[in-house]
Amino acid sequence: SKPLRIALAGLGTVGCGVIRLLDANAAIVRARAGRELQVVAVSARDKGKQRGVDLGRFAWEDDMTAMAARDDVDVVVELVGGSDGPALTLARNTIKAGKGLVTANKAMIAHHGMELARLAEAARVPLKFEAAVAGGIPVVKGLREGTAANAIEHIYGILNGTSNYILSTMEATGADFADTLKEAQAKGYAEADPTFDIEGTDAAHKLAILASIAFGSQVDFAAVECEGIAQVRAADIAQANALGYVIRLIGMADVETGDDGASRLLQRVKPCLVPRDHPLAHVTGATNAVVAEGNYSGRLLFQGPGAGDGPTASAVVADLIDIARGETSAPFSVPVADLVAMPAAGSGNR
Ligand code: NDP
Ligand code: HSE
Repeated sequence: SKPLRIALAGLGTVGCGVIRLLDANAAIVRARAGRELQVVAVSARDKGKQRGVDLGRFAWEDDMTAMAARDDVDVVVELVGGSDGPALTLARNTIKAGKGLVTANKAMIAHHGMELARLAEAARVPLKFEAAVAGGIPVVKGLREGTAANAIEHIYGILNGTSNYILSTMEATGADFADTLKEAQAKGYAEADPTFDIEGTDAAHKLAILASIAFGSQVDFAAVECEGIAQVRAADIAQANALGYVIRLIGMADVETGDDGASRLLQRVKPCLVPRDHPLAHVTGATNAVVAEGNYSGRLLFQGPGAGDGPTASAVVADLIDIARGETSAPFSVPVADLVAMPAAGSGNR
């Protein structure tokens, strides 16, 4: 059968990771997809940059937003980042051109996921973003499909690898915050602007997406109450330790029923004291962990690498394999028109 022809926008940590994975695991991917996944065109800011992967075999596009118009492309993979700008233009162009879109861009999905999902449903094309939440952990698919028969009552977890790397490294070695952040950047965990990591915004983007899938509600990023780890000091970690706790950046979403019987969505990202014997206390490094409580499934724990080139590329290529096989599920848990507009509990970050 015909190859699935891919345009790849963004050749940084994740983009180059995708090329390396497709090269290294070509036979596995082909077998699972039922056909070849063939990158035909690539784009980034700097054509001359040495990236450690062979790009000579692909066409180069100076204007990435034009990739969607190429006749030789079936699917666009957006690995550029940023909630707006070229990533969003490319996403809209791609879907409007009747092509599938795979993205790892949680900022874009948190801000524009409803619009993009509406466009994708209208155009009957796939929009997939497994890599946008928790890196290599298949939590989007796990929640959307694996727990589809459940009412999810509660969802929480560690959603930012960089923050967890910083907190757990400071805890283990007494290392300095700024030095540990630099290490996380060097390992490819951090966002292009790392304030998104340490101020909790990245975790808030992911929480808003997860809450939508878990509760069948519209993505409401503006309603997430958000505080990151920028104010956490070594002394806070030592004091928590003396009391039997560790500090973890936790994202938590709950549906609360008020005295009036109405449901409200509470979404919060905060540094929390976690008892040392709690499973989340043992999550170290750039690992993420998501706990979801379904009314029939019981408590589920999704855990694994939450950032970095390999794990994130793994999630991107899994989405491409689904598309190659003709999988057509709605981007969120149900069609956008059926997602509930749930009022927010709490003040959020509006
Ligand atoms: P990088 O910063 O490493 O790479 C971004 C790429 O996009 C670069 O190749 C860059 O070009 C290109 N780019 C950026 N801005 C522009 C622009 N204005 N015009 C053209 N090209 C541009 O980011 P990552 O690979 O780490 O992340 C990519 C996406 O994946 C982001 O949405 C991120 O949030 C998400 N993600 C990242 C994870 C990770 O662990 N790193 C994990 C999960 C999701 P050039 O190289 O020429 O500068
Ligand atoms: N910057 C993000 C993190 C990348 O540290 O978790 C993965 O989404």
